[in-house]
Amino acid sequence: MSARILDGREVAEAVRAEVAERVAALAKQGKVPGLATVLVGDDPASHVYVRSKRRLAEKVGINSLHFELDTDATQDEVESLVLRLNADPAVDGILVQLPLPGDLDDKRVTSLIDPNKDADGLHPYNLGLLALERAVLVPCTPQGVMRILSHYGINPTGMRAVIVGRSFLVGRPLSMLLAAKGTDATVTTAHSRTPDIAAVAREADILVAAVGVPGLIGRDAVKPGATVIDVGINRTEQGLVGDVAFDEVREVAGAITPVPGGVGPMTVAMLMRNTVAAAERSMG
Ligand code: GUN
Repeated sequence: MSARILDGREVAEAVRAEVAERVAALAKQGKVPGLATVLVGDDPASHVYVRSKRRLAEKVGINSLHFELDTDATQDEVESLVLRLNADPAVDGILVQLPLPGDLDDKRVTSLIDPNKDADGLHPYNLGLLALERAVLVPCTPQGVMRILSHYGINPTGMRAVIVGRSFLVGRPLSMLLAAKGTDATVTTAHSRTPDIAAVAREADILVAAVGVPGLIGRDAVKPGATVIDVGINRTEQGLVGDVAFDEVREVAGAITPVPGGVGPMTVAMLMRNTVAAAERSMG
């Protein structure tokens, strides 16, 4: 048996259409949403990600404002830029691409973003609302994973979900979303200090890999018929690969997201969704 492919590009397209409609409704009120992207340094992957975010913004009618700082930018320079964007009424959403280079403090910068403009949903206030199940701006990648599941009619209620990875960007917020009332998965978070990750992962009806280790999840880590969501995007000599050994896992899984073309496009689509939500709220 070969797993059903969960096509993130198809789901992202549906989100894009929905966002474009909401942008058009705002335009009727004279409002064009603005997304400010901030890129510090010269990490090639970050440049690729930010370019795709800017491109999609323009495509759905969101005004893209872009700011670049050198690798040797100081903490003060990054923070001053964020404060300036907080005060700019043309900016509804702010995205500071992570990780920041060198000794720059990601968490400090993220905490300075106006929570109402936090298009990434990573500000402590928004993560706090997520813990309270009252979030408006939900982190993009976890939100994208949830949307893939709902699009394909995979209902987590009563399922065992195992998330491999406990990052603030993905693993932690996703564990809250999957365990939330109304979603009701039973969630386990595994990480680098978990003994025998494969044994834990094999218990999952929904298995999410979000660690950044190419091919970490092999077929021995997957329960037959499980839904496997691969959040990893690893640049290797073989090209872009996920955290899941796709070719072997697709033989046992019931459904699986590919890399590329799985979760990646969803992260970008959900950033647009958050930006529009922030712009709608700014209109009252
Ligand atoms: N780096 C990798 N993923 C993300 C993301 O979703 N948001 C930001 N700001 N940086 C990232």
